[in-house]
Amino acid sequence: MRSFLALTVLIGLASAAVVPKSSYGNGYGKLNVQLGPRPFYLVDNMDEGPLKKKLQSCSEGPFKPSEFVFAHRGAPLQFPEHTKESYTAARREGAGVIECDVAFTKDKKLVCRHAQCDLHTTTNILNRTDLAAKCTTPFTPAANGEPATAKCCTSDITMEEFKSLCGKMDGFNPNATTVEEYMDGTPYFRTDLYATCGTVMTHDEYIGLVNSWSLKFTPELKTPEVDMPFDGYTQEQYAQDMINAYKKAGIKPSRVWPQSFLPDDIFYWIKNEPAFGKQAVYLDERVDTEEGYINATASLPELAKKGVKIVAPAFFALTKLDASGKIIPSEYAIAAKKAKLDIVTWSFERSGWLNHGGDYYYQYVADAVNNDGDMYTVLDVLAKQVGIKAMFSDWPATVTYYASCFNL
Ligand SMILES: *[C@@H]1O[C@H](CO)[C@@H](O)[C@H](O)[C@H]1NC(C)=O
Ligand SMILES: *[C@@H]1O[C@H](CO)[C@@H](O)[C@H](O)[C@H]1NC(C)=O
Ligand SMILES: *[C@@H]1O[C@H](CO)[C@@H](O)[C@H](O)[C@H]1NC(C)=O
Repeated sequence: MRSFLALTVLIGLASAAVVPKSSYGNGYGKLNVQLGPRPFYLVDNMDEGPLKKKLQSCSEGPFKPSEFVFAHRGAPLQFPEHTKESYTAARREGAGVIECDVAFTKDKKLVCRHAQCDLHTTTNILNRTDLAAKCTTPFTPAANGEPATAKCCTSDITMEEFKSLCGKMDGFNPNATTVEEYMDGTPYFRTDLYATCGTVMTHDEYIGLVNSWSLKFTPELKTPEVDMPFDGYTQEQYAQDMINAYKKAGIKPSRVWPQSFLPDDIFYWIKNEPAFGKQAVYLDERVDTEEGYINATASLPELAKKGVKIVAPAFFALTKLDASGKIIPSEYAIAAKKAKLDIVTWSFERSGWLNHGGDYYYQYVADAVNNDGDMYTVLDVLAKQVGIKAMFSDWPATVTYYASCFNL
């Protein structure tokens, strides 16, 4: 990502004579990046100090697209995740790389959904009488103290049926006695303002859209929630199909960061699609338990030896507090650097308010977190001391502000 920046400077100089002044000369054209008020609100909210001063000094821009900014599911803090509208908002907010989580349909076509079985919380499928009956588990209302249940998978329906759905904000009400109530469960810090009928996307449509913006791709092969092979469809074919989509579209491997939580998917790409495999991102969820964290940290040199180049734990695992309460790089972060692994991390802006020490993402630094502005303090340690290459964000604008300020 940083090496790309150096390259674009050269391209920018080479074409300075023909590129209009308002263009950044970096392939993004004249995109007028818009951040909205949120980053400014967060900077104002910070504790006094040099970082706040520096960020305040950048308030008038210019703000530009950055590959430090990975759009996590688009811009789902306010837009229904993995919809055209969400990706469009992410682009406008300066994300240089946009994510599609990849799941397969009943007819083995690839579509963008965060999980294979989340259609009941991210779309209107339960309110579609023709399709709701096809769900793995149709809606059952809450009764006798038991929560409402439903489970609808992309593999329950065809791609054409999937395309007829509306994307909604992810959420559900476990106390619902009707479908209408069940679908009404958006977390308080998000909004339904843009959830009128989000345009759901196939993987190919996502590639076309992001390519038309000259941006870059980070598709995540989602762990199947059905037994594989599924109707003859193997995990290897699924992993291969995802890569084939970029080859078919003529996309250079250097523009694609394929991700997976499953080490075998990463090793599959390294072996069979090395040009894509060398950018593969291993999503490391072993850090979620204390013992797993220790094992994961110890295993990093071995992973590097096996050809893994990029690891991506959730960002809580990359920092900790020192004895004086200062936020510093964690053992995992230090070990990754030592093993010469690049780090991408997730996910900024998924936490809502931070005034009570934040949530999962801030668990190791909770004692140093008591206002929303503290998220920039954490980001600063990740960028400057841990040396992350990119941050996934549910609201790319917040990270773009930082990236533009520090020329990332
Ligand atoms: C469900 O469908 C009905 C009938 O088409 C519609 O009136 C209602 O607004 C829908 N509800 C939701 C939450 O989409
Ligand atoms: C569901 O009901 C429980 C018990 O009454 C309550 O604590 C909880 O807040 C309710 N959840 C929602 C989302 O309404
Ligand atoms: C950690 O590694 C030890 C030793 O190899 C193993 O016994 C243990 O199951 C691992 N724990 C986790 C959570 O991976």
